[in-house]
Amino acid sequence: MNADDVARRYWYPAALRHQLDDGPVALTLLGEALVVALMGDEVVAFPDRCGHRGAALSNGEVQQAPDGTACLVCPYHGLHLDAGGRPAHLPARPGSRLARRLGVEPFSATLRDDIVWVSLDSEPVGGLPEWEPHGVPDRLHFQLAPIVWNVGPTRIAENFNDLAHFATVHAGSFGDPTHPIVPEETLLPTDNGFRHWVYMHQLDRVTMDGPAVPIEVEFHYEHVMPFATELRISYAPDRIEWIQVAFSPMTSLDDPEPATMVFQQNVRNFDLDGDVTAWHDFQAAVNEEDRVILESIRPRAIAVDGHGADESALAVDVFTSAYRRAWRTLLDA
Ligand code: FES
Ligand code: FE
Repeated sequence: MNADDVARRYWYPAALRHQLDDGPVALTLLGEALVVALMGDEVVAFPDRCGHRGAALSNGEVQQAPDGTACLVCPYHGLHLDAGGRPAHLPARPGSRLARRLGVEPFSATLRDDIVWVSLDSEPVGGLPEWEPHGVPDRLHFQLAPIVWNVGPTRIAENFNDLAHFATVHAGSFGDPTHPIVPEETLLPTDNGFRHWVYMHQLDRVTMDGPAVPIEVEFHYEHVMPFATELRISYAPDRIEWIQVAFSPMTSLDDPEPATMVFQQNVRNFDLDGDVTAWHDFQAAVNEEDRVILESIRPRAIAVDGHGADESALAVDVFTSAYRRAWRTLLDA
């Protein structure tokens, strides 16, 4: 199986829940143009191409058909498609027979953690990540606006699970250059990915120019193949932050000019009256440090099936070595 065939089988974030309040959202996933929309209580994902004359459905809007059914309305001739992608109504000829092929074949779509997840497969594998919920008492959270990085999702997943770059790439934010040592990590396989954890130094800091106090914290990662990770940072037993990320491949995994949509939300159980804007902005600044180094990598996509063959591993590459082996296993299955 090639890498794209493997990747098509999994779930990916397509949009944040609140983005659908303004109407359908367009996205590209593994080179396919999709539209996601909220139709009544249901989220749907369709190919972004009307079966009549090919107009982009993402430029349309959700309206009710005369019988009250929520429909996605094509912006060209107004063909109404129901949540199953079936043609339901044409205002220019009400009651006329509408062939099924005028509609579209829906993709798998579901809502979880205020994120719309989609899969290009009718029977996705791997499941959705089980993330710490944020819509509960004693939790504070924010979602970052989805952002495109011009680097492959395998590179981003490896980086998010990498510890050895903290003291260098993040020396201007939370990394502690005076404590560059990465202690031995423990890594275990799970049903759909990896769990790995370590105690490490970082700087306890909430703004880029705020006071920076060196502390030791636990970094605990739950990675779900291929591109979703939750990092639990325990500053103390009762002071925990969860960073939840998932990377949606917009282009083919073999594309030498890759693009990835980066989704992220943070949750914490402390400082519940704190400044969410400062917390959000600090995280965005940290991510920018990562983006700059990742977009400098060549090749920007790891060739997962031969992938990174001319790169060498370090002893600290505990996750990335296991991750690349896992990819090879998926490709060989
Ligand atoms: Fe969509 Fe004609 S192209 S209704
Ligand atoms: Fe980083």
